[in-house]
Amino acid sequence: MKWKALTASVCLATALYSTAWAQDLPQAVSTEREMVVTANPLATAAGAKVLNNGGTAADAMIAVQTVLGLVEPQSSGLGGGAFIVYYDAETGTTTTIDAREKAPAAATEDRFLDDGGNSIGFSNAWQSGLSVGVPGVPRMMELMHERYGRLPMDRLIAPAIRLARGGFELTERTSSQVAGLLARNVAGEPRLFFRDPTAFAYFTTPDGEAKPAGTLMRNRPYAETLASLARQGADAFYTGPIAADIVAAVTGDLNIPGDMALADLAGYQVIERAPVCVDYRGHEVCGMGPPSSGGIAVGQMLGILQSFDLSGFERVSVEAAHLFAQAGRLAFADRNFYVADSDFVPVPVAGLIDDDYLASRAALIGPTDMGTASPGDPPGAFGAAGPDPTIKSSGTSHVSIVDRDGNALSMTTTVESSFGNGVMVHGFLLNNELTDFSFSPTDSAGNPVANRVEAGKRPRSSMSPSIVFDDGGKVEIVTGSPGGSRIIGYTAQSIMNMIDFGLDPQEAINSPHYGNRNSNTELETAIPGVTGPGDAADLQAGLEALGHPVSVRSLTSGLSIIQVTGDGFIGGADQRRDGAVGGR
Ligand code: GLY
Repeated sequence: MKWKALTASVCLATALYSTAWAQDLPQAVSTEREMVVTANPLATAAGAKVLNNGGTAADAMIAVQTVLGLVEPQSSGLGGGAFIVYYDAETGTTTTIDAREKAPAAATEDRFLDDGGNSIGFSNAWQSGLSVGVPGVPRMMELMHERYGRLPMDRLIAPAIRLARGGFELTERTSSQVAGLLARNVAGEPRLFFRDPTAFAYFTTPDGEAKPAGTLMRNRPYAETLASLARQGADAFYTGPIAADIVAAVTGDLNIPGDMALADLAGYQVIERAPVCVDYRGHEVCGMGPPSSGGIAVGQMLGILQSFDLSGFERVSVEAAHLFAQAGRLAFADRNFYVADSDFVPVPVAGLIDDDYLASRAALIGPTDMGTASPGDPPGAFGAAGPDPTIKSSGTSHVSIVDRDGNALSMTTTVESSFGNGVMVHGFLLNNELTDFSFSPTDSAGNPVANRVEAGKRPRSSMSPSIVFDDGGKVEIVTGSPGGSRIIGYTAQSIMNMIDFGLDPQEAINSPHYGNRNSNTELETAIPGVTGPGDAADLQAGLEALGHPVSVRSLTSGLSIIQVTGDGFIGGADQRRDGAVGGR
């Protein structure tokens, strides 16, 4: 059962909860002409309006991104980076856009080590100027607009400017995340989280508490920054007073100063790269290649699962979860070992998704848990190196859009950890993306780690924006999620849920998560009214009997999924966050 979308997203988002269905779970939304799904109703409404006015998917993305940077600042913004998989209906081609943050020219491999060669620790690095990569989002918006846009930029940023000036209500999610970070400060020590007085004043009450949900927030500096971008293009951000103030904030950080220079900003470029595509049961799944590990790892997981007939299993079953977890172990072993910025290290991309190689990896899967998987030896692999198995946190958001002309856009956008590095400049937060590098340049045997810090390099990502094509080459599914390195599993599971188990996008999202990043097998704690039917925790005993080390926990995906059908679109938005579907 699906909702017919007659109006824009905000109404639809409300409607999701009002239908009577088993367990009152959120229901899919259908539209006829176009669709946008984001993690926030205001962002979805802005994108839906642009689409309704004849804008392209790229135009709608700009409206969405600029609103997200305001209303969901913990997850993405002008000070961050993004990856896009884009299908251009006119040429029938798929490309990817790498707007990943990059390390300054002064960066060296010992960036996150102290004088004794020990790690300075994640929190210390996160909340510092060292972690800030040169942002990619403003240049990305400019490029996408020049290449694929139709409406003028000032119309695209108008919704964000209106909200920034007129005010918007702080969400419960943002408020509680501010409170969570403030609680991490240590009494009697200088404030580390929200150490920047501008960010502190913006997010807290005069008593220094997190502003409560529902607070009317205004961000005039953000409106002015957007207006400058509309007037002068992205140069307004990468040169001039905004660039100077970014450099001043980074080099003057109150915890640990960084080393970003004006030349780093002025020289930043978005890179167009070939998509990474794999066949999955007759569908073509296209994703983002290095510096993201997402396209390769999602492709590997699906390519490995292809050796097994999942359709005979229940989607929430010991059998399906076991196979999915084993595929995750194998994919993460390779990811940790081989994948980094391919402009700096040789990544055997073709070998890692080679059919025969993946069949050989699938053959390693037995009836019991394999334990820690080792990296394989894919065709074209380079010699010895050390793995980077570090697990990173997430300040990320996913946007899926298809416009009336059939252009499809899948974008995952990030400031890395919640609220980036916590420093606000001209109304936006700086990222801490460089903590996605390995903190140690070598492994314990002294081998260089592929994902070590290097000047001008882009840190390895897990972001997995994906577009799936049917056997006739038509866009079929647009999907992706935030969630740190769990993004890979969330995205692969969404595709498996739809292709193998025939779920619609919302059912695929509601379905409880399971997965393994070559460590514990993680099962999702059920959320009443949000996840189900079935409870992954019910699988615990069965998986433990197969030797899985199991942890049951919340797994907060933020999937945004569009399914393209012969009649239009079916959309699903993740209620583990504030997702909303819009369009007509
Ligand atoms: N910052 C999240 C990611 O790039 O995977």
